[in-house]
Amino acid sequence: MDIILTTDKALDIESGAFAVLCFSDEAPGPDLAGGLPAELHARGEFTGKAHETAILHRPAGMKAERLLLVGCGEKARFTPAEMRKAGGVVVRALQPKSLTDAAIRLKGNTLSAEMLSAFVEGAVAGIFEPDRHKTTGKEDKKSFASLRISVPERTPELVEALRRGRTLGEAQNYARTLVNEPGNLLTPLKLAAEARQLAAEFNLSCEILDEPRMRQLGFGTLLGVSMGSAEPPVTIILRYTPETVKEGSDHLALIGKGVTFDTGGISIKPSDGMEKMKYDMAGAASVLGAMRAIAQLRPAIPVTAIAPCVENMPGHKAQRPGDIVTSYQGKTVEVLNTDAEGRLILADALTYAARQGCTHLVNAATLTGAIAVALGHLYAGVFSNNDPLQQRILAASRTAGERIWPFPMDEDYKEYLKSAFADVANIGGRWGGSITAAKFLEEFVEGKPWAHLDIAGTAWLDEAKPFLAKGPTGFPVRTFVELATRWS
Ligand code: BES
Ligand code: ZN
Ligand code: ZN
Repeated sequence: MDIILTTDKALDIESGAFAVLCFSDEAPGPDLAGGLPAELHARGEFTGKAHETAILHRPAGMKAERLLLVGCGEKARFTPAEMRKAGGVVVRALQPKSLTDAAIRLKGNTLSAEMLSAFVEGAVAGIFEPDRHKTTGKEDKKSFASLRISVPERTPELVEALRRGRTLGEAQNYARTLVNEPGNLLTPLKLAAEARQLAAEFNLSCEILDEPRMRQLGFGTLLGVSMGSAEPPVTIILRYTPETVKEGSDHLALIGKGVTFDTGGISIKPSDGMEKMKYDMAGAASVLGAMRAIAQLRPAIPVTAIAPCVENMPGHKAQRPGDIVTSYQGKTVEVLNTDAEGRLILADALTYAARQGCTHLVNAATLTGAIAVALGHLYAGVFSNNDPLQQRILAASRTAGERIWPFPMDEDYKEYLKSAFADVANIGGRWGGSITAAKFLEEFVEGKPWAHLDIAGTAWLDEAKPFLAKGPTGFPVRTFVELATRWS
C-alpha cells in the first residue's frame, strides 16, 4: 500500500473515496458534499457513533468518486487510540467492495504527529487478512493500493510520524502472519528460519541454539517439554545494537513463549477448541515483530530478543506428570502438569537472558487461560518484581494503545508452588493461576528487574472488529517497540 502525504486541497483530491471523520456531537459542515452528510446527521441516519460508516456517491463539489463518512464518537474523547481504529475502519469499509484507494484530510484535533502515526498504523493493520492459505475467493478481491493523507504542510515531523506508523503496522502484521500459521507449517525449525531471514533483511544478528547446544548448556526444563515431539526445539536469539552504546548502558531483553502447538502433552487438552493452540507462539512472534520495528526505528538501547520454541506433544517419549527436571539455573522442577509447559521453556530462556548481561527482562507469553477469566479479552496482565520497570511498561502501553493491568506478586504466593520432591512444582493448584505462573517464572530471573505479560486473552481476536480482522492481534508488539524507543 502506498501511503502519501499531500498538501492538495481536500476538494481537489481525485480518489475512489474521500474519508471524513465525523463526531457524534458535531454536525458535519453544511458545505460538505452539498449538505447531504449534515442532513443525514440531523435525521439520525448517520449519527457519527464510533466505527459507523456510510458511503455517498458523487459528492457535490468534490473530485473524489465517493465520500466515506466515518463515525468517531464524541469529539472530546477522540484519542490516538481511537484514531488508530479509525484508520482500520477506513480501509475495512472500502476493501471488501474492491475500493482500493482513499484519501483523507487531517485537521483540527486529528492533525498531529501522534494522530497521523496512529491513523497510518491502524490502516496498515486494518488491511491485514489472515487468508494466506485460501486458494479460492480471493481472485476478485483487490488489495488496498493507495492512501493519500492531506495535511497543511509536509513537515519533517509528519513525514517521520508516517514512517513510524507504517513500520509499527507492518511489524504487527508480520507477527500476525506468523501467529496464524498452523502447527504443521510453522514448527520450531521453521520459526528459526523465519528469524534468520528477518535478521538478514533488517541487519540484526541472529543466533540459533539447537537441541545439542541446549543439552550442553543444560536447558533441562525446556528439553523436558520438547521430548514428546518429533520436531526439534530451538532457542532463537536476535540482537539489535545501536551505533553507539554508552558505558554501563541498560540492555533490554524481550523474551517470547514459542510453543508452536500446545496439545497439553500427556496432560492433554480437550479437543474442543484445541486448534487455537497454534497461537501459543504469539509471544515469540511478538518479539520477532518488535525487533523488526526496532531495527528500523533504531532506539538508543541495545535489545536482545530470545524466543524458546518447542512443540508440546504426547507420545511414548513425552514428559510424564511427576517427572523431575533440572533447569539451566540449577533448580529442580516437579512437572505436575505437562500442560503448564510455557513456564518451563521460559524458565531456561529467562535465566539465559539474565546471564547474557541483559539488565532488564520483559517477557510475553500466552501463559494461562486464567488471565482471560480475570481480565476478559481486553487487558493483558503484567507481573513484575520491579515497580519502576512495571511503570515504564504501563506508560508505554498507554501510548501504544494496548491495555495492560498489573497483578500482585506477594511472596506468600510462592507457597502455592511447593513440591514435596523437588525445589518447585510447575503448577500452583486451583486459585490465582496467572499469579502462580508468574511466581514460577520469577524463580528463574536471577534477581534481575523483570516483567511478564500474560497475553493469552489478548493475542487472539475471536470475532472481527470493524477495524481489525478476526484472528491474531499482534499484541504486544506496539508496547515492546514503544518501551524500547522511549527508554533512553
Ligand atoms: N497455552 C496455555 C494457556 C492458554 C490457554 C493460552 C487458553 C491461550 C488460551 C498454557 O500452556 C496452559 O495450558 N496453561 C494451563 C495451566 C494450568 C495447567 C496450570 C491453563 O491455563 O489451563
Ligand atoms: Zn499448555
Ligand atoms: Zn501453552
